[in-house]
Amino acid sequence: MVTTGTGLKESPMGFKLTQEQEDIRDMVRELAEKEFAPRAAEVDRNHRFPRENFELLAASDLCGLIFPEEYGGVGLDHVSYSIAVEEISKACATTGVMYSAHVSLTGAPVLQWGTEDQKQRFLAPMARGEKLGAFCLSEPGNGSDSAAAHCRAELKGDHFIVNGVKNWITNGIEADFYIVTAQTDPALKHRGLIALIIEKGSEGFTFGKLEDKLGIRGSSTCQVIYEDTPVPVANMLGKVGDGFKVAMSTLDGGRIGIASQALGIAQGAWDHAHKYSQERVAFGKTINQLQAIQFMFGEMQTEIDTARLLTYNACVAQDRGNRFTREAAMAKLYASEVAMRSTVKCVQIYGGYGYVTDYPAERYMRDAKITEIYEGTSEIQRLVLANTLLKGQ
Ligand code: CAA
Repeated sequence: MVTTGTGLKESPMGFKLTQEQEDIRDMVRELAEKEFAPRAAEVDRNHRFPRENFELLAASDLCGLIFPEEYGGVGLDHVSYSIAVEEISKACATTGVMYSAHVSLTGAPVLQWGTEDQKQRFLAPMARGEKLGAFCLSEPGNGSDSAAAHCRAELKGDHFIVNGVKNWITNGIEADFYIVTAQTDPALKHRGLIALIIEKGSEGFTFGKLEDKLGIRGSSTCQVIYEDTPVPVANMLGKVGDGFKVAMSTLDGGRIGIASQALGIAQGAWDHAHKYSQERVAFGKTINQLQAIQFMFGEMQTEIDTARLLTYNACVAQDRGNRFTREAAMAKLYASEVAMRSTVKCVQIYGGYGYVTDYPAERYMRDAKITEIYEGTSEIQRLVLANTLLKGQ
C-alpha cells in the first residue's frame, strides 16, 4: 500500500516533525498496515469490535501516549497523538475512534480533573491499556444541548445515586470505566452538573440498544442505563457543578482526536484511490494520466494538508496549556468536512467499483460521515467558533 500524508513533514513556515514524531508515525503506520488494515473490511462487515486491536495498541504503549510516566504513560505531546490517531484511522476508522474515545474522552479528563487517588485507580490502568474507557454525555433527548441532561445524581451519604440513560456511547458495552455527567439540581441547569467515574459491574448498571450504524461499524455504540446506581463521592471529577466544564474541556481534546480520525479517513481513501488510478485503464491509458482525475487528487491533497496543519495547530495550542477551544473546533469542523468531500471524490474515481464492497472506497465514505456528527456536529463547531471569535469567550 502506498501511503502518503507526508506533505507537511517540512514546510517553508518552518513546520517540521521532530525525529520522535517521525518515529511514532513510522511505528504506528507499520502496526496499522500490518494488523489493522487487513481486518478492517471484516470488522466492518461483521460489526465486530476488534478487541485484539486494542490489545495491540496497549502492547505498543499507545494507550498511554500522552499521559505522564508516573501514571503508566509515555508522556509525549499531542502532535504525536494526532499522528497516531491518523495512522490508525487510515487503516481502520473503527479502531481510530475506539482509541480516541479511550485516550481523549476518558483518560484525559481523569488527568486534568482527577485527584491523585483517581489517577492511580483509573488513569494508570487505562494508560497501560488494561482497562478501556468510555464517555457518557449525550442522552436520548439531548445530543447537542449537553446542559439539558436528565440523568440525575442524588447525594446519599458518601454516594451519589444515579438514574438515567446515556446514548451513543462509543466503546459502549466493551468499556470498563465510564465518565458520566449527571444533574444534581435541574434548577441550576449546567451549573448543577457533575461528572462521575462509574465502573462496569456497578449495581443497576445495564446496557440498552446496540446501534446498527452506517459506518465505523465495528465500534461498539450503545445506550448505557443507570437505575439507582450507587457511585462513591470519591469518584467525582472536580466538585459539584464542575460537570459541564469537565465535559466541554474534554470535548476540546476529543475534537482534536476526531479531526485526526477524519484526516486518517481522508488520507487513507486518497491513498487507495491513487493506487487504483495507477492500475485502472480507460481510453488507452491509466486513469491517473487523465486531467479530470489529476485535478481531483490535487484538490483533495491540498485540503487534507490544510486540515492537518489546522489539527497540528490545535495540538500545539493544547500542549501550551492555554484554552484551545477555538483551535480544536476549527480543526474538527474543517477536517471532518474534508474527509466527507475527499471520500466522495474517491468513490467517484473508482466509478462503479467505488459503489461496491469489493473495494474499500465505499467504507471510507461511510466512515467519514460520523466525523461531521459526533463530538459536536459541524453546526455546533460553527456555534463554538462564533462564540469564541465574536463574543471573545
Ligand atoms: N472549556 C471550559 N469551559 C467551557 C467550555 C470549554 N470548552 N465551553 C463552555 N464552557 C463554560 C463556559 O465558560 C460557561 O461557564 P460559566 O457557567 O462559568 O459562565 C459554561 O461552560 C456554559 O457555557 P455556554 O454558555 O457556552 O454553554 P451553552 O450551553 O450555550 O453551549 C455548547 C454549549 C457549545 C452548545 C455545548 O453544549 C456543546 O459543545 N454541545 C455539543 C456537545 C457534543 O459535542 N456532544 C457530542 C457528544 S460526545 C460524543 O460524541 C462522544 C463519543 O462517544 C464519540
